[in-house]
Amino acid sequence: MSSRKPVIAGNWKMNTTPAEGQTLAKAIADGTRESPNVEVIVSPPFTGLSDVSQAVAGSNVQVSAQNVSSEQSGAFTGDVSVSMLEGLASHVIIGHSERRGLSCETDGVVAAKAVAVQAAGMTPILCIGETEDIRKLGNPVESVRSQLRDSLVGVSDWESLIIAYEPVWAIGTGAAASPQQAQAIIGEIRQELEQLAGPEAASKIRILYGGSVNSNNIGPFVDQPDIDGALVGGASLQADEFVRIVEMTARLENKTA
Ligand code: PGA
Repeated sequence: MSSRKPVIAGNWKMNTTPAEGQTLAKAIADGTRESPNVEVIVSPPFTGLSDVSQAVAGSNVQVSAQNVSSEQSGAFTGDVSVSMLEGLASHVIIGHSERRGLSCETDGVVAAKAVAVQAAGMTPILCIGETEDIRKLGNPVESVRSQLRDSLVGVSDWESLIIAYEPVWAIGTGAAASPQQAQAIIGEIRQELEQLAGPEAASKIRILYGGSVNSNNIGPFVDQPDIDGALVGGASLQADEFVRIVEMTARLENKTA
């Protein structure tokens, strides 16, 4: 771990009704009060944003949307624009592999979203990561580096950006990458950011690992020099488990601070 403040973000995906989200968010807000040295983010579906943001008001927990349109308004049935998130979210997950895969979102689309999110004063949590097929070909580094570059075209605000490296083969499978594997790729991501943003800015950008993170395996991830926390899917749906992940991170952060 480094001088960067760690981030633990929960991606609830298409789970939780507004009422369930409110209950979960309250429990997380209560459970993480003693961990102010970790940035805690929860990401409910759009329909839960309002209740969840009220539930966490005044706590250590911030709220993220799971997606947004790059368009401002108009004939985009089913989409939500950045202005509609005002007052409801401080962050937006963009380019999650489920959206890239199921909704055919290209790097270009993701980059346009990143620009729109920053222009609206929110922080994008940009997801990148190689598929199983690319992994099998042997060396995922170049694929991840080019995905990063192409998903950041037009972005110039390097202070408002979080990256999540999520190897697609590790998401929801129970087969997390090893902390060493994740560190190797995340180190490359930071080098690519150095080229894009300069060394000073790149050294401040938080880069998370995501893919089957839980309270048993979080420790060695956040112990790596370039890994600044985690984007957590399944394990973020249970308050106790998610709080344990935050607590483990807080403990390691205290040790190194
Ligand atoms: P998982 O999901 O923790 O359930 O693997 C991670 C994610 O999709 O962000």
